[in-house]
Amino acid sequence: MNIEIINGPNLNLLGKREPKIYGKETLKDIQKNCILHGKKKSIKLTFFQSNIEGEIVTEIQKARKKFDGLIINAAAFTHTSVAILDALNLLKIPKIEVHISNIYQREKFRHKSLISSAVNGLICGLGSFGYILAIDALEKLINKK
Ligand code: DQA
Repeated sequence: MNIEIINGPNLNLLGKREPKIYGKETLKDIQKNCILHGKKKSIKLTFFQSNIEGEIVTEIQKARKKFDGLIINAAAFTHTSVAILDALNLLKIPKIEVHISNIYQREKFRHKSLISSAVNGLICGLGSFGYILAIDALEKLINKK
């Protein structure tokens, strides 16, 4: 089983970035934990991070041929990007949206996700553990197909 995890803008700075909100773990730490978790279940994880909206759209387009499922934390683009929504709508594999923080406890502009309608499920507010939960959820959805 092949799963891709896409992370959007500023998530490359996890660890340094507002640790009270996002925790002290770096993106590398999160990747290591996800890979370890995946190994136990024979799931291969591939990671992609970009600060550039168009690069994320292109990566989602490419995922169709390469992956069985997708986990996406589109970060700030969650709240703004019709292009990422459209790309996700075109991708017919199971998809989970993840946010490290609880976006509904934060500023009003974060309460609206433009991409949620295009994913199977949404996990937010559980810190980096959300990515682990998303792997387990995707495994179930992919096996059900
Ligand atoms: C985030 C929440 C977004 O509102 C924010 O812009 C991010 C990270 C999260 O993981 O909690 O960059 O997606």
